[in-house]
Amino acid sequence: MKVIVKNNHKEVSKEAADIFEMEIRNNPKTILGLATGSTPIGMYKELIKRHNEEGLDFSSVTTFNLDEYLGLDPNNPNSYRYFMNQELFNHINIPIENTHVPLGEEDKAEISCKVYDSMIQEMGGIKLQVLGIGSNGHIAFNEPGERLSANTSIVDLTNETIQDNARFFDSIDEVPKKAISMGMGSILKAEKIVLIASGENKAPAIAKLLNEPYISTYLPVSFLLAHKDVTIICDEDAYSLVK
Ligand code: F6R
Repeated sequence: MKVIVKNNHKEVSKEAADIFEMEIRNNPKTILGLATGSTPIGMYKELIKRHNEEGLDFSSVTTFNLDEYLGLDPNNPNSYRYFMNQELFNHINIPIENTHVPLGEEDKAEISCKVYDSMIQEMGGIKLQVLGIGSNGHIAFNEPGERLSANTSIVDLTNETIQDNARFFDSIDEVPKKAISMGMGSILKAEKIVLIASGENKAPAIAKLLNEPYISTYLPVSFLLAHKDVTIICDEDAYSLVK
């Protein structure tokens, strides 16, 4: 596991964008795994800038997102499909049909779970995956607990995650209690993984991961310790509790 510490979120974003840019330039037909949340927004801004100013070409790139809230349709401004369109896809030259986000609508969610992992594998598998981390150490929406799903499935969100994500909604009552999430097994199949973390609320989870190399379902991010190609890019605040 490679760890890079940067001064702030902007530098974290640039470093992560460098890795994504290199992947896209070396392999224009690459398959990228993408995340939502506040952390990757800076990296997406960088990639948009590089598309506009340096011609970074997404025309043959395919993407798969990690997760989607259950019950939100793609036009709901709080859905992750909407987020991805707003924060990245609408600003680059990726064909929208090359972008995949699990389908959150109640009548489509179950079938979406069933086909998501096989779709990824049939297309050749994710070459480069970006991950954020929850303050409780979750990865995608794989929440700490007695067991973690291996495959893409419908999961319950913990109160901690509901509270963390309430900042994107008008009130905490509007935050969905369930989501579709790629499983730990689905995520670990990616060839390369880049985890980005910024801010002091991520410091306890990053410290648990890096201070003691153990793997536990109560710290989902710790499964990354078993992967052969993980780069963690943190800012100083997120790294502040590492011994
Ligand atoms: C989002 C996702 C989540 C977030 C995590 C951190 O697709 O998978 O695991 O990465 O909750 O979110 P932020 O970046 O908002 O702190």
